[in-house]
Amino acid sequence: MSRIFNFSAGPAVLPLPVLERARDELLEWDGAGASVMEISHRSKEFIAVAEQAEADLRDLLAIPADYKVLFLQGGAQLQFAMVPLNLLADKRGADYVNTGQWSNKAIAEARRFAEVNIVASSEYSDFTTVPPQSDWNLDPGAAYVHYTPNETIGGVEFHWVPDVGDVPLVADVSSTILSRPIDVSRFGIIYAGAQKNIGPAGLTIVIVREDLLGRTSPLAPNLFDYKKQAENGSMLNTAPTFAWYMAGLVFQWLKQQGGLAEMAEMNSRKAEKLYAAIDGSGGFYRNPVTPECRSWMNVPFTLVDPELDATFLTESKSAGLHALKGHRSVGGMRASIYNAMPEQGVDALIEFMRDFAGSRG
Ligand SMILES: Cc1ncc(COP(=O)(O)O)c(C=O)c1O
Repeated sequence: MSRIFNFSAGPAVLPLPVLERARDELLEWDGAGASVMEISHRSKEFIAVAEQAEADLRDLLAIPADYKVLFLQGGAQLQFAMVPLNLLADKRGADYVNTGQWSNKAIAEARRFAEVNIVASSEYSDFTTVPPQSDWNLDPGAAYVHYTPNETIGGVEFHWVPDVGDVPLVADVSSTILSRPIDVSRFGIIYAGAQKNIGPAGLTIVIVREDLLGRTSPLAPNLFDYKKQAENGSMLNTAPTFAWYMAGLVFQWLKQQGGLAEMAEMNSRKAEKLYAAIDGSGGFYRNPVTPECRSWMNVPFTLVDPELDATFLTESKSAGLHALKGHRSVGGMRASIYNAMPEQGVDALIEFMRDFAGSRG
């Protein structure tokens, strides 16, 4: 077996011990005579898996008792619609911060349901920064404030949590969840597609403060109703059992690594050395993001000559460094270095980048 270093933005690398355990348990899980995929989501055996996963996630993120944790489907993009459908109630307006492509998509979807007020935008910088809170034009009457703490495509991250007073703060944490500790009590809702830092695609985690439940539009489908999902243990319909089980294994792995404080230390170290290699390349590589807004998880960079992109990709792939092609909308390269990317992977990438620049520069 030769596993690559996989820099995919998602679905992304999973921790090897998690994959090994899943492999070992695939044909027969926990003495059941069947795999975990083949048993009822309502069986007491699966309910135990589901509850343990929730308990471990609560531990990792120190989720306060007055928050519900939902294990849903539909991906993060379905939350772009479920958030307004669940939070607008008798209000019409919602505040959105625009920091790039994912906030833009969230805004476009919300406009189907709400009067969207763009309270701040970093478009002036071509989305290479985050707008300082002093420039935000918040509406105290808004149903909620939505932002994207980590823009996966632009590689722009908030390294601070906005203060929005009593208005519920909603965050799309798809590409930053579990990369560091966060204070969940600062948020009304956080949500994430699983396929970056949680587990396989097919699962979406929503963490919602209880007092926000019960405001759902009567037009929302049953499955979109946070309150009904919470009351039914996220099992209004057949749950994504295998993805849920895998997420549970990832949560256990994270606890074995020492939890999120430990992950934060490792993630900042990995990101710092990669940015240092880019900045120290004498202009051969370039990352356009303002240093204090650079993402720990997604590191886009361009080469001095785009004509070299194809060779860089071919040679890096031969060196076992895969999925470095930048998002189709921006080109260049992007290294996604989620929790499960070992530090050796980042070291190997840096060494390859130095050699490549040395032979072409
Ligand atoms: C920040 C962010 N939000 C939303 C999405 C969309 O997620 P999904 O494909 O789960 O709908 C992504 C996917 O890459 C993302 O990075």
